[in-house]
Amino acid sequence: MTGKVISILIAVAVLGGLFLILSKSGGKRQNTEVKVKMPVLSALAQTGQSLFQANCARCHGLSAGGSSWGPPLIHKYYEPNHHADGAFYRAAANGVRAHHWRFGNMPPVPSVNQQDVTKIIAFVREVQKANGIF
Ligand code: HEC
Repeated sequence: MTGKVISILIAVAVLGGLFLILSKSGGKRQNTEVKVKMPVLSALAQTGQSLFQANCARCHGLSAGGSSWGPPLIHKYYEPNHHADGAFYRAAANGVRAHHWRFGNMPPVPSVNQQDVTKIIAFVREVQKANGIF
C-alpha cells in the first residue's frame, strides 16, 4: 500500500518536472508592452496601419507597442540606425530568429508582399518618430 502511494508520488513529481521543462522551452509569454502615442498619420502610413493590424498586431500589438506574444517595435532597438528598413523586409519574408527577446522566433508572414511592407514601415517609422525614436 505505502509502496503504491510512493510510486504515485514519484510519478506526479516526474510529470511535474517534465511540465516545467516543456513550459520553459520555446516561446514565452512576457509583458514588455509600451504605451504608444499615436500621431496623425500620412495617407501611406494609414494604409500601412491597416496592413500592420491585419498581419503583425497579434504579436506586436495594435499600435506596435507590443503584446504578450511579441515585442514593441516602438522601441529604441528598432530605431532606423539599429534596425534599418531592410530588417522589416527580411523579417516579413524570412521570419526572425529570437535574439533580443524571449518570445521565441518570429515566423515568416507570407500574407504580406514587399509593397505591403513598405507601407508598414511608413506606419512604424511615423509612430516611432512621434514617440521620440529616430
Ligand atoms: C507570431 C508573432 C509575430 C508576428 C505575427 C509578427 N512578428 Fe515580428 N517579431 C516577433 C518576435 C517574437 C520578434 C522578436 C525576435 C527577437 O529578436 O527576439 C519579432 C521581431 C520583429 C522585427 C525585428 C527584426 C530583427 O532583425 O531583429 C521586425 C522588424 C518585425 N518583427 C516586424 C514584423 C512585421 C512587419 C510583422 C507583420 C508583417 C510581424 N513582425 C509579425 C513576432 C511576430
